[in-house]
This record gives sequence, structure tokens and C-alpha cells, in this order.
Amino acid sequence: MSDQTIETHFVEDRRYPPPLEFAAQANAQPEIYERDFEEFWESEGRERVSWIEPFTKLYEWELPYAKWYLGGTLNVSYNCVDRHVEEGRGERVAYHWEGEPGDTRTITYAELQREVVRFANALKELGVEKGTPVAIYLGMLPELAIAMLACTRLGAPHTVVFGGFSADSLSGRMVDMGCEVLVTQDEAWRRGSTVPLKRTADEAMAAAPKVRRSLVIRRTGNEVRMQEGRDAWLHELDLPDDPASCPPEPMDAEDLLFLMYTSGTTAKPKGIAHTTGGYLVGVAATHRYIFDLKPETDVFWCAADIGWITGHSYIVYGPLCNGATSVLYEGTPDFPDKDRWWSIVERYGVTILYTAPTAIRAHMKWGPEYAQGHDLSSLRLLGTVGEPINPEAWMWYREHVGGDRCPVVDTWWQTETGMALITPLPGVTTTKPGSATKPFPGVDVGVFNEAGEEVGPGGGGYLVLKRPWPAMTRGIFGDDARFRETYWSKYPGVYFAGDGARIDEDGDFWLLGRVDDVMNVSGHRISTIEVESALVDHPRVAEAAVCGRNDALTGQAIVAYVTLKGGDDGSLEMLDELRNHVAGKIGAIAKPANIVFTPELPKTRSGKIMRRLLRDVAENRPLGDTTTLADPTVVNEISQRASADASDD
Ligand code: WT7
Repeated sequence: MSDQTIETHFVEDRRYPPPLEFAAQANAQPEIYERDFEEFWESEGRERVSWIEPFTKLYEWELPYAKWYLGGTLNVSYNCVDRHVEEGRGERVAYHWEGEPGDTRTITYAELQREVVRFANALKELGVEKGTPVAIYLGMLPELAIAMLACTRLGAPHTVVFGGFSADSLSGRMVDMGCEVLVTQDEAWRRGSTVPLKRTADEAMAAAPKVRRSLVIRRTGNEVRMQEGRDAWLHELDLPDDPASCPPEPMDAEDLLFLMYTSGTTAKPKGIAHTTGGYLVGVAATHRYIFDLKPETDVFWCAADIGWITGHSYIVYGPLCNGATSVLYEGTPDFPDKDRWWSIVERYGVTILYTAPTAIRAHMKWGPEYAQGHDLSSLRLLGTVGEPINPEAWMWYREHVGGDRCPVVDTWWQTETGMALITPLPGVTTTKPGSATKPFPGVDVGVFNEAGEEVGPGGGGYLVLKRPWPAMTRGIFGDDARFRETYWSKYPGVYFAGDGARIDEDGDFWLLGRVDDVMNVSGHRISTIEVESALVDHPRVAEAAVCGRNDALTGQAIVAYVTLKGGDDGSLEMLDELRNHVAGKIGAIAKPANIVFTPELPKTRSGKIMRRLLRDVAENRPLGDTTTLADPTVVNEISQRASADASDD
């Protein structure tokens, strides 16, 4: 949390009240904030979702675990697909899919139903049944959403692993969850070249012995190795696709829906558990009010990857549950050119766009001419998520993408929260560039100081959640102690989010970034310790310390301080080798932007690495108190090396 960020927030006095025409037609009206917590979630529970057996109790909270919609049974794929077909919405487009090379597919709800049924039958053939854990390692293909929905149809919990992750990351997750089946594809497209997902999956399966079968989707068509008896091509299976051939399995509201692994403050990612009923109600309700969704007319585009929670909640489950039409895009924003996104917005008539500050800053850097070259007049609402948005990026988004007419909603949430929790409601909330504004209705947020006292307007401290919400995580898979320790031990009885926050005089929230050893690089959560472990895994590395530094484009960038074995001074080749080693261990997103070779790391007398100090060095700040250091001269040495590196760039 740098002083500079807080300063910017203090002087921000721009205000954007909701446009009158927007307010008049909005799903959310001002009274929504006056609704009673229980009444609100009870009626959302009834209205967003079709239940097989209705719930009999709204919620139960045995600290720290909450349960929602108790007694209710439902099926997620039925809610996201079948009921839309049954109720006459079968011809509505569920996804406008666009492949990176330019191939396209339009999938209606009726087609989606057949595809999901077919896929579920394929999984059944591979032995998947209710409760079988399934891993999904795919790029942004329609089959990714279809595979998830097929799992939910059978009641098989899934874990989707982002296609940029390494074999180690994939196998680690599959082993932790006990996955028995893996869904993958031959190769993915990325900026005109291919990414060998099946090859990486083979490596991962070799290290995850419980995985018996894999189902492979053909994308690029290039040859890949198939292991007899284990791997099956989806397109070679002859499968029925009528809904009666695979009826949706009735699930308890509290049955496990999926795990999403995310980085914490230790080397091992945690499997964040989400269950069926509360999650679906939570994502559908927030999707409807925050994005003012009008399913008959809107074209919604959440430009995230389904491999992260944002894509689970707002590309797959929320939008489909609401019967929305979404865009699904396989590639990157700058391929083949930097106007790719704007050409998509224009061609599909996107009305609502949801993306991350880091993407907005990339577009800012490229210049507004790419957006200006396209007709973006279909847009009526813009959203952002993933990291604090700097007011300049917020303003640029509003002006150059939203034509100064679209409300901008900055939504704060986490993998653990499942749904957005702090956000403006377009049509109701007056927005300010850089503020996520107010808690969503029925959500109870506070800011506590170090002593655990709630600070009022004008105060700052740590963000906490004081009451459960439907989509909240049901824990870390297989690790109750870590769940209690991470989120519930700093303050008794409230959820500690790990973020710093301020509340201004109007009661609006300003998120200030992580307060733990978690970095946020391009909206992706990466643990300093995970990267350190990957570095010391290299045979030449004796010790490593990692921290995030501010970066104008990616929010934070990873800086690593490395001590090599045998007093080796390091070299440019070594630097490359270590960066690639980290990519191989975790994934390319975790590659350090800078590596500083140093003979020693600054440690306290008790041997703890002083990351705060390293961050000061990385951000060229004057070094504060170093009296607890075992050897204070180390720091000078490091800052000299760090600035020498910077001048090399
Ligand atoms: C962390 C959660 C939830 C989707 C993407 C990230 C940061 C998220 C905002 C925002 C400021 C934000 C927080 C949070 N974050 N949204 N609007 N303003 N910070 O999910 O990987 O679980 O990361 O992202 O630091 O704790 P995640």
C-alpha cells in the first residue's frame, strides 16, 4: 500500500451520477438497499433458480462455515440450459464464440443442451458419476463451458485449470482433489502459434496416478500422442444427445460444485470450495443487478478466461442461469491487431463489457485510435474487476470505450467470495473513478483497524465481511485448519479478506491492494512464496526472496532477489534460465520481471527475510528502519545491484 495511492484517492472529487434514462429502466432501483438481508436473499433464492425440492431454511452459520438454502435440491445444468429450452428460449443465442484464427460458432440454448447432454454421456462412458472429481484443462473453447455444465449434470465436481499453467501446477491440483478424469484438447491457439496442452496434460497425468481416463477435444488438428486405453477423442465417440438420455442429477444445495485453486501465502495453492445452491443464486443475482442484465436484448461480454473465478461466475454460471447471450473469445486482445476487441464489440453488438484494469491500461498504452476505428455505440455498461483501478484508467475506459455515456462498475471480489461483493449498481449509485463504492445488497462489509475496531467514514484499515453471503466459499478442500487460520483468525467472527481499504466521507469503499504476501499481477493472484519455491527448486539457486513492485501496466510486477550457490555472480543467461524455470514450475504468468543476483538476502536476526525492505528497494523508496537486520550492509549492496540492473534495461 503506497502513500501515493492513498493520496490519489483523497483528491478524487469527480462524481458520475447514474444517467436518468439508465436509472429509469434499471433492474436495481434505490429501494434495493433498504431491503432486509433475509428477505432479499430468500426472494433471490426463489427467483433466480428453479428448485427440484424448495429450500426450507435460508442459511445457517456455524462459524466459520455457512450453509445456504438448506434442504433445497437442484441441478445447475438444468438451471443454466434445459429450463431455458423448456420455457421457449431455445432459439436464443447462449454464446457467440470466436476463435483466435477468426473461425466462429453461434450456439443457441437448444444447441447447448444437446452439446451438454452429449458431453455428459461421454463423461459417463469414461466412468464419471455423481461425486467423481474431474479436472478440465482447456483453452477458451465452447467445450470448456460445455464440459463444466456436463459435470454439473452428472453431479461430478470439477476443477478447471487455466491453460497457461504448467504440468506441475496441473498435476498438483489433480492430486489434491483426487481427480479421476481429465478433459483437455490437442493444442490451443495463442497469437498465431500453438500451445501443446495435451503434451502438458500427459506430463501432469504421469504425476497424478488417480487419473484413469482423459477426454481430448480436437482444436488445431495437429497430431498428438494418444495413450491406448486411457485417452479418448470426443469426436470419435458415438453418443446420444437427447436430454432424456442423460437426465440432470438432483443435487443438494450444499453439494460440492467445483474447486478453484488459488494462491495463498504458502507454496501450496488452496482448493477453494464452492457448492451448488448458494453459489448459483449468488452469481445469478449479482449478474442481474450489477450488469443490469436484460436477457432478451443484451449481449454480455466478460473478457476474462474461464480458468479463473471471474470466468466461472460471469462467463458460465451467472449468465447462463440468467438466460443471457454472451461472447466467448479464444484469443488475446492484440491478435492479429490491437483492435481485435473493438471489432468483436462492433460485430456482435456487445452491450455490456467486463474486463480488468490491466487490460484497460494495455489499451491506453496502444492509444484510443484502435477503439475509435470501430462503432462501439452498442455498449451501455462497462465493468472492471481484479485489482484496484487507477482513476486515469477508469476515466480512459469511460471516455474512449464508453463514449462518456456508459456507467462504469468497479467490482471487488475474490475467488473465495464467489460473487462480486462491493460494487456500484448502475442506475442507482453515483460513481467515482477508482472506488468500488458500496456493498452489494444483503452483504455486510466493514473496515477494521489493527485493534479490531470498526472504523467509520474517513477511516482506513483491513477489509472484513461481517455476515455470510450465499456464494461464499465453504472452505479450503481438505484443510480446515488453513481455512480458519487464513480468513478467521485475525479477527474473531469475521472474514478477513487480505485487502486494505478506506471508507470515504460518503461511505464509499476504496480498495488499496493486498496486505499479505500475495501479489496481483495483471489481475492474477500469485504468492511470493510459491515463486520463491520455484526458484530454489533450480539446482544453482541457494536462496530466493520475491516481492511485488508497482508496475504501470500490470499493476504489480514480480521482482526476485536470488543468491546463487558457490558465490556465483549470475549472468544474463542465468537470468533467462531462472525465468523459464519458474514458468516451467508454475506457468508463464509467474515469471519474474526482474531478477537481482545478490550474495546475501536481508534477514532479521531471527532469520526472516525482510520482504518489506526488498519491496522498498524494488520501488526505489528510501529505506526505512533496518535496525532489526542481522547485517545492515546487505541492503546497500542489494540496492546498488538493483539500480545497476535497472539502468541495463
Ligand atoms: C483479489 C482477489 C474476483 C475476480 C478476480 C480476482 C483483488 C479484485 C478488485 C477490485 C481492488 C480487487 C483483491 C482481492 N481485487 N477485484 N475491484 N478492486 N482489488 O480474484 O484471484 O481471487 O483475487 O483481487 O486484492 O483480494 P482473485
